[in-house]
This record gives sequence, C-alpha cells and structure tokens, in this order.
Amino acid sequence: MRVWGAVQYVNEEGGPEVESDFVTRTALVTGGASGIGAAMARQFVAAGGRCVIGDVQDERGRALARELGPGCRYEHLDVTDEDDMRAAIDRTVDAFGALDCFFGNAGIVGALGPIERTPAPAWDRTVSVLLRSAFLGVKHAVPVMRSQGSGAIVCTASVASLRGGLGPHAYTAAKHGVWGLVRSVAAEIGAYGLRINCVAPGGTVSALSASLVSGDGDDLDAAYRRLAAASSSGRPTTADDVASAALFLAGPGAARINGACLAVDGGDDLVAHKARGYFEADGSER
Ligand SMILES: NC(=O)c1ccc[n+]([C@@H]2O[C@H](COP(=O)([O-])OP(=O)(O)OC[C@H]3O[C@@H](n4cnc5c(N)ncnc54)[C@H](O)[C@@H]3O)[C@@H](O)[C@H]2O)c1
Repeated sequence: MRVWGAVQYVNEEGGPEVESDFVTRTALVTGGASGIGAAMARQFVAAGGRCVIGDVQDERGRALARELGPGCRYEHLDVTDEDDMRAAIDRTVDAFGALDCFFGNAGIVGALGPIERTPAPAWDRTVSVLLRSAFLGVKHAVPVMRSQGSGAIVCTASVASLRGGLGPHAYTAAKHGVWGLVRSVAAEIGAYGLRINCVAPGGTVSALSASLVSGDGDDLDAAYRRLAAASSSGRPTTADDVASAALFLAGPGAARINGACLAVDGGDDLVAHKARGYFEADGSER
C-alpha cells in the first residue's frame, strides 16, 4: 500500500514502514498557471514530485509546464465544470500513476460592491469559481485517494474565511464555505486514511491582488508595496510563502493534521497590529 504519512512508524520487523520524500508523489494543482498555484507547482517539482497544472490560462500554464520539465504537464481545466474536473484528475493518474495531493486553489476576486448592488449572476459566478470548484475537486479526488489508501487534499481558503471585512461579500461567503467544506469532509475521510486541510493566505502578492490594487494584474510591484505597507512585519505574504505552507500540509510532516485552517499572513489577522503602541511602552503600569 502506498502511504503518505507517519515517517517515524516502525513496523514489526523494525524497519521504516513508509517513504518520506516526494520522489514518487503526484499533485494536481488548480489555478496553477499563476500566483500561489504556480509557486506550488514549482516547489512540488523542485522537491522531486510530479505535478499537473490545471487552469484556464492555457498559454501561461503550458509555458510553466515546459519550464518545469517532464515532471510537470498542463491540462486545460475550468474548475467550475464537473466533467473538466473529473477528466483532469483522471489524466493526472494516467500520466503519473497516482493522485497523492489535490491542491484546490483556483480563484478570482469576483463580485464587488455593497450587498444591495451585488448582482445575483456575479454572486453565482464568484461562488462557483471559489466554492463549487473546491466541492468538485474534493468529490472526485477522494475516491481515487481512497482506492490508493492515501492522499492529502489542500484547499486555498483565505483570512476572509475567518472573519468579515477582509474581502467582498461573495468572496467572503464562498471562502467561509471552503473552510466549512474542509471541516466537514475531514470528519468523513480521516476514516479512509486521508486528510484535508486549508491554507488561509492574507493579502498575497499575485495577479489577483495586483489587479485589485492597481487594476493591472501584471503590476506585482504595486501589490508588493501596498501589501507591505499594510502588514505588521513590513513585508507582504508571497506566493511562495503560501505554497510552502500548502506543501507542508500535503506532506508527511502533517500526517496528523486533518481539518485545519492554517493562516499564512505573518500573524496580521490574529494580532491587532495597529495597537503596537502597547508593546513599545517602557514597562510602567497605568
Ligand atoms: N492574492 C491574495 O491576496 C489572496 C489572499 C487570500 C486567498 N487567495 C486565494 O489564493 C488562490 C490563488 O490566487 P492567487 O492570489 O494566486 O491569484 P492568481 O490570479 O495569480 O491565480 C489564480 C489562478 O486561478 C485561475 N483561475 C481562475 N478561474 C479559474 C477557473 N474557472 N478554472 C481554472 N482556473 C481558474 C487563474 O487563471 C489563475 O491562474 C485563490 O483561491 C485566491 O482566492 C489569494
């Protein structure tokens, strides 16, 4: 049986039961042509794994797959389409023999504006790309992983999964749904030896944040500057920061982590960093 898990386990003969490297490991990364997904594809392949990038940006996705070499390939995948999702998972298994990791990451900002002026079709499109996509990926990844007896799913949630006001209404509602899905499915699939978790990035330098900051998805410098200024640490979260966390959750070091939501934001969501004056005081009491 293929096992992606506890590296310390010693079997009856006293030998290690499992491998701990990524050499034979395969991932499907949705939204892998850009940003966090592209960083995950790069890190996964650099760690010795094999990766299928699924995206709707065919040119970018193909270029990245070419750059990463024979351990990587590109598949056109609209994450809102169930047939596409099923086919991308099947092609991952056909190409590389297994699906050890599904990284459900594709996303958009979606509908903006006050609730009373949020058009229902824009709401539906947003929820479809962010939440229906996670459902479809998990739905079709689980049976494959169950038959393998191993596998780890990671979804990209957001700090907007944790509280209001950190994104537009539809985005926030959908991202809360992603974490709800992760918790619900974790309660089922632990029994099959599988795991599902999510990363919750704060403002991250990518085309998505750049398009919000400057209207130009290619202006990553503008996104970097704006997010750095808003961060307590003086630097923004990068796509690589989020990919590292996702890689950890997908890997053997996270063998006992199931149903978790790991914030990747330098602590900005959990600390009221505008109150830093408290920590700069001289130790006196008031
Ligand atoms: N950048 C941030 O500040 C931030 C913060 C929190 C969460 N996130 C989440 O991170 C994830 C990745 O976003 P990113 O920041 O890397 O942005 P990005 O724009 O660089 O990447 C998103 C990718 O998703 C793809 N995509 C969009 N719709 C798709 C569809 N229907 N089918 C397949 N692919 C589709 C895009 O083509 C793109 O390649 C998203 O889920 C986003 O909500 C981003």
